[in-house]
Amino acid sequence: MKIGFIGGGSMARALAAKWSGKHELFVSGRTPAKAAAVAAEFGAGSGTAAEAAAFGDVVVLATRNEDVFDAIDQAGGAAAFAGKIVIDINNPISVETFLTTRTDGRSLTQAIQHALPDAAVVKAFNMAQAAVWADPDMTYDGRTMVTLYTADDDRASDAIAELITDVGSEPLKLGGNAHAYQLEAAAAIVIKFLFAGHDRHTILNVIQPEVKPAR
Ligand SMILES: NC(=O)c1ccc[n+]([C@@H]2O[C@H](COP(=O)([O-])OP(=O)(O)OC[C@H]3O[C@@H](n4cnc5c(N)ncnc54)[C@H](OP(=O)(O)O)[C@@H]3O)[C@@H](O)[C@H]2O)c1
Repeated sequence: MKIGFIGGGSMARALAAKWSGKHELFVSGRTPAKAAAVAAEFGAGSGTAAEAAAFGDVVVLATRNEDVFDAIDQAGGAAAFAGKIVIDINNPISVETFLTTRTDGRSLTQAIQHALPDAAVVKAFNMAQAAVWADPDMTYDGRTMVTLYTADDDRASDAIAELITDVGSEPLKLGGNAHAYQLEAAAAIVIKFLFAGHDRHTILNVIQPEVKPAR
């Protein structure tokens, strides 16, 4: 697949490291030199958000969650995403209250889909820290980590399942994007315990900390 990243921070780097060599990658950011440096790590192209959207059959929205809609505008708005699969990895969670910042009862994923009516938006990769996605071995205590995702579109569902497999995890579809709100709320639990110092491998699962200590 051709994958464009809008944003070249921690999550883009973690996912790009896993997809490098399997897919064609392009990284963008507000600071061209930073995006170019990240892209160089993975033999990827780099440039603007608009170029990343144009490049990808799949586009990953990988800015901070509060910048998502600005980044979409900078990429060219809805027309730039027509026909694309868009991966929403973002957590609209306050790190002061550890509650969702969504106020209308709609997930960020659904709001993105509303803004990009001709794209197929999926939610994935929001439930664990970047360092977990970067982990070269996602098998813990003999079991492969499961990644929950949501998708409305069958083609997008197949694509995200493949991309989850390619990071070394096992895809598990929670449902359509009506369920994305639950993934965002669950991430708030994860983030709360991460901020409290919990081991990133043990939140919301039954793996004992001593099996795989935090690195
Ligand atoms: N970090 C985690 O552990 C984690 C885990 C799961 C989900 N998430 C979610 O993943 C998203 C990304 O998190 P992150 O930690 O990777 O963020 P990050 O390290 O802060 O990186 C954000 C990136 O977005 C770029 N950016 C900001 N506005 C942009 C725009 N308008 N156009 C293009 N690029 C833009 C920034 O570029 P400049 O530096 O040049 O401005 C930077 O490269 C967040 O929504 C977060 O909720 C994060």
